[in-house]
Amino acid sequence: MEDSQRSVILSGLGTFVPHKVVTNDELALHVETSDEWVRTRTGIAERRLAEPGQEVSQMGAEAARAALADAGLQATDIDAIVCATMTPELPFPATACLIQAELGLPRVPAFDISAACSGFLYGLDVVTRLVQSGAYKRVLLVGTEKMSSILDWEDRSTCVLFGDGAGACIVEAVDEPGVGIVDMILGADGSRTDLLHTPAGGSRLPASAETLAARQHYLRMSGKEVFKLAVKEMGAVANDLLERNGLTAADITCVIPHQANIRIIDALAARLELPLDRFLVNIDRYGNTSAASIPLALEEARRLGRFGSGDRILLAAFGAGLTWAGALLKWQ
Ligand code: UT7
Repeated sequence: MEDSQRSVILSGLGTFVPHKVVTNDELALHVETSDEWVRTRTGIAERRLAEPGQEVSQMGAEAARAALADAGLQATDIDAIVCATMTPELPFPATACLIQAELGLPRVPAFDISAACSGFLYGLDVVTRLVQSGAYKRVLLVGTEKMSSILDWEDRSTCVLFGDGAGACIVEAVDEPGVGIVDMILGADGSRTDLLHTPAGGSRLPASAETLAARQHYLRMSGKEVFKLAVKEMGAVANDLLERNGLTAADITCVIPHQANIRIIDALAARLELPLDRFLVNIDRYGNTSAASIPLALEEARRLGRFGSGDRILLAAFGAGLTWAGALLKWQ
């Protein structure tokens, strides 16, 4: 971001996860898997799953309330709401509008971002520019997912990987120079949509008895290929951010990676030649929460004191689309 522009900071962070914990052993009662396989191949020990009736907008609104409280703000201080989700509550309208209603906020613009697991960082880029332009003073960004609603609970290769939850932040401009969002990179490769997608339920294949029978409304993933591309693109985006800002990995106090697989995070650490203790890892407790993953990890890292004022933080994500994104922050 150019020096002449005002600094844009994340002035409040908040999270919400459902109360219900489901362990690998509990999943092994329903599909042919084991705690040992899931732990060693993914790093996941348990995940949170929403109860019936616990909706993605409610989880998002809870995270938003926590972010507002963290920033010392009221809902009425917010000028716009952006929601990143791959599990929208309804095909339309936007989940952001449902969150707006939950928060009781009339008339501010509200819209969704669809970039799967990269959604929160895609949203952060968009929101940063909305604030930087001066058009909006404070924007609420929410990443919220009910992944359990799109999983095929008979497919052991995917159902063990994901969890539900939400994270939110308030993005606003400040006069203090050189803090907040330093730089961001977004990318996509739409030629590989087949690797991670839900075939039916959209306008191409609307819901029908046939699509239901073929279980086409559930998430499908070619895990091995997605794994390799996640390592490649998250590594590239992290290195590009460092290089174009004249930094090395040693200048980064804390890395917040998308939590998809501990082996992806290990590979990223090896690429950056950083010890794993420089990374926030919470995949063991939450699994992959898609657009909620980055804010859940960022808030936890701050809570644990893993970074403080003046520290540089690197965020990197990868997901369906295919999409990837990175952000470099200097904490205020
Ligand atoms: O957030 C978006 C990005 N998402 C990701 O980045 C996910 C990327 N992919 C991955 O994390 C990994 O590829 C997986 C965790 C999905 C799979 O791990 P893998 O090491 O690539 O395993 P695999 O798919 O090659 O499967 C190895 C074996 C297979 O058995 P055979 O063919 O070798 O007999 C699978 O059938 O493991 C089997 N397997 C399982 N076994 C027990 C697959 N899932 C399970 C399971 N429990 N849940």
